[in-house]
Amino acid sequence: MNALLRILSLPAVFLSRVPGLRPVVRACSTSVGQKFLMAITGLSLVGFLVVHLAGNLQLFAGEEVFNAYAEKLHSLGPLLKIAEVGLFATFAAHIGLAISTASMNKLARKSAYAMKETKQGLFVLPAGGASSWMMVTGLLILAFLVIHIIDMKLKKGFGVDYSAAFPAGQEGVDEDDANAFQAVKAVLSHPVHAAIYFVCLIALGIHLSHGVRSALQTLGVNHRNWNFLLRLSGLLLAWGIAGGFISLILWAMGTKS
Ligand code: HEM
Repeated sequence: MNALLRILSLPAVFLSRVPGLRPVVRACSTSVGQKFLMAITGLSLVGFLVVHLAGNLQLFAGEEVFNAYAEKLHSLGPLLKIAEVGLFATFAAHIGLAISTASMNKLARKSAYAMKETKQGLFVLPAGGASSWMMVTGLLILAFLVIHIIDMKLKKGFGVDYSAAFPAGQEGVDEDDANAFQAVKAVLSHPVHAAIYFVCLIALGIHLSHGVRSALQTLGVNHRNWNFLLRLSGLLLAWGIAGGFISLILWAMGTKS
């Protein structure tokens, strides 16, 4: 764990050597700074998910519309590559910060428990609650991402028949130029992949239900009169995103030919 934390802190070490950035890096290294960065990266990823879902919902509009959308996306060329690097850097930062804040909390809790245990005995709860759920669901989402990139970007999903996406005579075609509609349908209508996606999307719903609310709280979006509405909006956004993606699995299973 220590070695991993040391590797993850390398970008901060380099940035702190840049003139003028040292105080900023220092502020971001505190537990408050890290929570703040986690909130920002988390909400940026929610933004990506909303855009990603909106793009993929075009599957309902049919093959022509969805393939035109995929083609437009790929025609962005270097711009798309830059966006992809930014996206993966945001994912990596969010995961790195999650590990770092979790280990900081664990250390802080250890000393707090040592005190509490002598004073309160049975009333000390074991480590758990929302933060453990965030870790478990976060790890599921990470596993999902690896499978998803292999499935959708590399088009090498285990056991998936991509033949409709690469019709006869087009075997040598670049993955990005394959028939995107048929590729997505092939993945989502494969029972094992559909089951994995379903479980991971439920994990995503749970993760976002707590994450969105917690991020807003960290950023100071918090008011006694508005808390119920904020909580409800967070829940609706979380399950709207997860449910939207799940609807695509149901669609693919239903239209399997
Ligand atoms: C049923 C659900 C989903 C479908 C149908 C879907 C579809 C796709 C497709 C077709 C691509 C390839 C785009 C391309 O060719 O460049 C893709 C890429 C990607 N998806 Fe999804 N997606 C789903 C859910 C998710 C979720 C829940 C996440 C995040 C937690 C996610 C994250 C990504 C990422 C990071 C990429 C790579 C983006 C890039 O490099 O351009 N997707 N997805």
